Amino acid sequence: MFDPYLIRKDFPMFINKTKMQGHNLVFLDNASTTFKPQCVIDAENMYYSHTSSNSGRGDYDTMYQVDQEILETRKAVAKFINADPNEIVFTSGDTEALNLVVFGYFANHLKKDDEVLITVAEHASNVLPWFELQKRIGIKVKYIELTKEGRLTLENVSKAITEKTKVISVANVTNVLGYFVDLKPICDLAHEKGILVVCDGAQSVPHQKTDVKQNSVDFLAFSGHKMLSPTGIGVLFGRKELLAETEPIILGGGMNETFKLDGEIVYHKAPQKLEAGTKNIAGIYGLHAAIKYLEKIGLENITKYESELRAYAIKRMKEVKDIVIYNENAEAGIITFNVKGVFAQDLGTLLNSKGIACRSGNHCAKLLHHQINEIATVRASLYFYSTKEDVDALVEALKEGGNFLDAYFA
Ligand SMILES: Cc1ncc(COP(=O)(O)O)c(C=O)c1O
Repeated sequence: MFDPYLIRKDFPMFINKTKMQGHNLVFLDNASTTFKPQCVIDAENMYYSHTSSNSGRGDYDTMYQVDQEILETRKAVAKFINADPNEIVFTSGDTEALNLVVFGYFANHLKKDDEVLITVAEHASNVLPWFELQKRIGIKVKYIELTKEGRLTLENVSKAITEKTKVISVANVTNVLGYFVDLKPICDLAHEKGILVVCDGAQSVPHQKTDVKQNSVDFLAFSGHKMLSPTGIGVLFGRKELLAETEPIILGGGMNETFKLDGEIVYHKAPQKLEAGTKNIAGIYGLHAAIKYLEKIGLENITKYESELRAYAIKRMKEVKDIVIYNENAEAGIITFNVKGVFAQDLGTLLNSKGIACRSGNHCAKLLHHQINEIATVRASLYFYSTKEDVDALVEALKEGGNFLDAYFA
């Protein structure tokens, strides 16, 4: 098992930004984005300092090196999730990947009244593209009921399926409640009925081993920046035969074989046809370095460590008077809470004044209030470099904050 204190030496943010508001910096907003290790920053710098060129079969050395690195990164991403390299499309992030699925594939494969199943716990990126398709072609977005606790169950998926269901699009781990969804039985059920499954992996891929062959999802989206990589780089995995039928939503250089005066275009095969324009090459270098780093630590170790730290955090947070925890039994290192009578944003501001970065608000899951009856919450989210001291600092701040906020609201 790794030592989170030693690991922090790899992250310049832990060295350069030790204080916030005069207090030791405690970063508990990892579901939003993660810190980057030096090796990722070095990899980006390496591109800009040593091989800076565009990509796409250039006839000179540095461009060849860039092409090779893109190829190697595609292979590394594929191995990371047990896919084939040609099933990996580089995007700017999870959001673009989901938009590509919805507008590149489903816009051409769904018709009026076809039903798409999502849940009220989804992030905006897995809701709004479907709403737009509803407006454009008249599909129906329907909601799978969650349990009282907020979990997605196979039973409820089964109940929600009708003859018109064509897609199930859900997060593997939701970004506010943090429950893990076992996708394999859902995919098995869906596939029996000719339904495709789209997985939003933004909160799962960085924290646990992902195997798209084992769980048999049809599409999987995730973002690099939530797993140590630079911002602006993400991935869409799609099964080969589905990517072959996915239309580009952005057209231009790099994605076509030829085009003619009369407007005829011949596209490259996927994934290239879905990657028009100059890619985020530095981001790809960084993503490769991040994957190597995560593999060195081991995804199983990361999952185990976060689970133990979460259990510690829940135990300690329960010491806080009037705390309401919305997802006490969740699997992911996401803990969502409020203090009774205190507005979440005020709590977030108070935590900031003590050097603690937590997210407060609706966390882009603006339908979730239908489930938890709360518009705004505070979210503390862990990664493998989070420590018990981070949790202790949060708990002490909340305890002290209680008095301050009592006075504030008196
Ligand atoms: C579950 C989930 N889906 C999608 C996204 C969007 O990710 P990005 O902004 O990196 O595209 C997030 C980001 O918080 C998320 O948590």
